[in-house]
Amino acid sequence: MAHSTDGTFTAPAEFWEARYLTNRGESGHVWSGRVNAAVVHEVIGLTPGTALELGSGEGADALWLAARGWTVTAIDISATALAVGAAKATRDGLADRIDWVQADLSTWHPSAEFDLVTAAFLHSPVELAREEILRRAASAVAPGGRLLVVGHGAFPPKSGHSEHDCDAPPLPTPDEVLTSLRLPDGWVVETNALVDRPVTGRDGKTVNLIDTVLRVRREG
Ligand SMILES: C[S@@+](CC[C@H](N)C(=O)[O-])C[C@H]1O[C@@H](n2cnc3c(N)ncnc32)[C@H](O)[C@@H]1O
Repeated sequence: MAHSTDGTFTAPAEFWEARYLTNRGESGHVWSGRVNAAVVHEVIGLTPGTALELGSGEGADALWLAARGWTVTAIDISATALAVGAAKATRDGLADRIDWVQADLSTWHPSAEFDLVTAAFLHSPVELAREEILRRAASAVAPGGRLLVVGHGAFPPKSGHSEHDCDAPPLPTPDEVLTSLRLPDGWVVETNALVDRPVTGRDGKTVNLIDTVLRVRREG
């Protein structure tokens, strides 16, 4: 069982399923429903191949990748989130390009290699062995392929956390993500950056968020 921000104890699967069942905005989504800007920026110039997305949520990134010719495996712990993505994939004629996999990444081990492995905002207010998961993600990158890790560089407003919240999971810098990956020789860092991202919330207010972006390539 994991410690949640409100002081209760919630298992990750239970927490995320409840989040996706109950916390949708007017759009019917928990998140924006739009592909992450950093994913677009980092992937747009790559030749499509096979992609694995970790913590895909409602699948906005998976759908964008599939629409650009990638064959995608999207993993998330929430069956409800995946069902939202799968319905959109059917509507958009992309169903045969995305495999939606419900799994807990804490116990997941890759059984194949991919040209691109992405983890965008794989953060959680409940238990998440992020460093271990990202190390396993790196082991799923095919020779010549890439791992892209996008994350929060600072706690977003209304996340329930602040820099002074002792219970908040720490937010690593791209350098810290890189170090924690413990990559062997034969990897090249292609992007290691903090990126500003202005976002307009449901209340109409715009705030500037900071994203961490790390893209590494396994030499082929
Ligand atoms: C902050 S959301 C990000 C969703 C999506 N990548 C995006 O950028 O909108 C984190 C996602 O990780 C998923 N997640 C959290 N813990 C997980 C776990 N142990 N195994 C698989 N997915 C998990 C959640 O269900 C959620 O969809």
